[in-house]
Amino acid sequence: AITLHLDHARASVSSNLYGLMTEEINHSYDGGLYGELIRNRIFKDSKTSPEGWSLVKDNAADTASIQLIAANEDHIPYDERGQAINGALSICLRLTVEKVSGKVGIANEGFWGIPVKPSTTYRASFYIKGSARTEPFRWPWEPKPTTPPLPDIENNTPGPVTVSIESNDGKTVYASGTINLEKSIYWKKYNLTLTTAADVQPTKDARFVISTNRLGVYYFNLVSLFPPTFNNQQNGFRTDLMQMLVDMKPKFLRFPGGNFLEGPMITDAFPWKTTLGPIENRPGHKGSWGYRASDGMGLLEFLEWTEDMGAEPVLAVYAGYSLQGDHIDAGPLLKPYVNDALDEIEYVTGNTTTYWGAKRAGDGHPEPFKLHYIEIGNEDWFDRSNSYDGRFKQFRDAIETKYPQLTCISTIPATQYPSMKVTGKQPAVVDEHYYRNSWDMWEHASQYDNYDRNGPKIFVGEWATREGAPTTNLNAALGDAAWMTGMERNSDIVIMSCYAPLFVNVNTATSTAPKAWQWDSDLIGYNALNSYGSPSYYVQKLFSHYLGDKIVPATVENIPVQNRPLSKKDSADGIQPKTVPTIFYSATMNDTTGTIYLKVVNTIAKKQTIKINLDGVAKVSPKATIVVIKNDKPTDTNTISEPEKIVPVTSTVNGLKKTFRQSFPPYSVTVMQIQTR
Ligand code: AHR
Repeated sequence: AITLHLDHARASVSSNLYGLMTEEINHSYDGGLYGELIRNRIFKDSKTSPEGWSLVKDNAADTASIQLIAANEDHIPYDERGQAINGALSICLRLTVEKVSGKVGIANEGFWGIPVKPSTTYRASFYIKGSARTEPFRWPWEPKPTTPPLPDIENNTPGPVTVSIESNDGKTVYASGTINLEKSIYWKKYNLTLTTAADVQPTKDARFVISTNRLGVYYFNLVSLFPPTFNNQQNGFRTDLMQMLVDMKPKFLRFPGGNFLEGPMITDAFPWKTTLGPIENRPGHKGSWGYRASDGMGLLEFLEWTEDMGAEPVLAVYAGYSLQGDHIDAGPLLKPYVNDALDEIEYVTGNTTTYWGAKRAGDGHPEPFKLHYIEIGNEDWFDRSNSYDGRFKQFRDAIETKYPQLTCISTIPATQYPSMKVTGKQPAVVDEHYYRNSWDMWEHASQYDNYDRNGPKIFVGEWATREGAPTTNLNAALGDAAWMTGMERNSDIVIMSCYAPLFVNVNTATSTAPKAWQWDSDLIGYNALNSYGSPSYYVQKLFSHYLGDKIVPATVENIPVQNRPLSKKDSADGIQPKTVPTIFYSATMNDTTGTIYLKVVNTIAKKQTIKINLDGVAKVSPKATIVVIKNDKPTDTNTISEPEKIVPVTSTVNGLKKTFRQSFPPYSVTVMQIQTR
């Protein structure tokens, strides 16, 4: 039986309990939420050849080549360095066409394809020039270059250049347009729109091509293609993914990481200052997950994303420690990093009389953003230099002195790492991370029932039940739901929580592009064309939608348990099996409306019927809404081809009284919405 004690005092549910966490992992932004469709748009993801790009020719007998011109090093000859647009756009692609009878051009494969949808208008833009500089600049004392001169064909480059979205074999053109290339040795940006016909079949087997039918030498940089974006934002977000996030009603967004905040080395930390302003100013950076980040998704885009969801940022600032162990000890050398964090906070919250507030206004957002929490670093329990104590203190003192309204979060949970926890003034909030299997989740679902109520508040800043790949299966969702009942029952101390990772591009490796993801068991999956939520996604949505503002105290009796299987080693060591409950629960209430949200998780293959007592309630409406996520096989899941195999189903039940019996199906998560007034 589960008894809800409605006549007992009720603690408040944290108003920030459910939020989101994000970082550039699994192609979350480039090839994910960020709308850009061109892979490697500024050619910096290039070892020997430009990733994502290829030469295309109508006629095999034509002679043409593409070559990267790296203009970012000062030892490079002037004629190459002269091709840089600015410090960020310092590598360009040269197309040399020496013999042509059909069309010749450069093609981009997108992020595992370019999505083609009917009646859709795409915004294309790129920098292009046909070089007419036959005699590159050279000081008198410098030797003549030994490389052979470019063919004398520049004068042919002016004229129409075709831009298209077409099938990978080039036989079907889905949308096309032209620009008229001027005769100039200087870079010029061209913009055009491409619109597909109403009868086009959706596909992602498409490429983006810029082509010519004239001889010449053509230089390209910052090639971009955007589909329609959420709220038509210029440098904006993919609509389907953004809508899925808005539908979750998150209260906050923790960004930019995760490991992505820190980078492998100090120089790879999230470079927020070079993620601002026009995309022309953004060089991108190495990232932390094996591929470069374009930083099209910059600090302002993170903030606008947060705002679009009606949420608040939880801003993580780089705190002088990177993943490979590189760090800066507290003291004068750390000061520039602390100042950088203060600048970042000013960019987010400062009014337009401040330097960085004015910069934000110049970037298009005059209104300051709301901000309450700053996280100092990420997972500093990995810090083997033991420098976090000093680093945290230095950051916290500076931030809380300048911004007393802000709360600094420590990344070292005192309960798990007592010897590493920060000393001196207790942090108001600590960030705990849990990546577990479902057995671990079931075993530890009640861990917060026994937490010290006088200790720091808890932010569960990353957690997930890791079963299933690339997205989770139902069993993982049962682990998640059980864990969430524990956080919810204890949301007087667990004030914030967010699942991680949020996104995964589900593409496997192709001949030219590697596998798209680095981390198994993610919440939302997608390819270039379609997206879907895992069973865990629907659990997140359910928990956040059906939530009261008060925790209803509850007790349970005779809840069936099951034995947790032992590993071979544990059995050999004579360890006794542990039992875990098979039913998990939490109850919250909206104090104004008198609505109770009772959540029950049944983790086993058998239907379980439970007696529910609503103790101390004056009145119960006989009719209740009931929402259930379930499936016969816990290993089943949703996929790109079966996106809605496991989704919540809503129905009503009748005949409720102060005491009633309710059946919970095998492998299910249930929310009952009960009216008490
Ligand atoms: O969520 C994936 C990674 O797990 C995060 O980047 C890191 O903080 C954690 O170790």
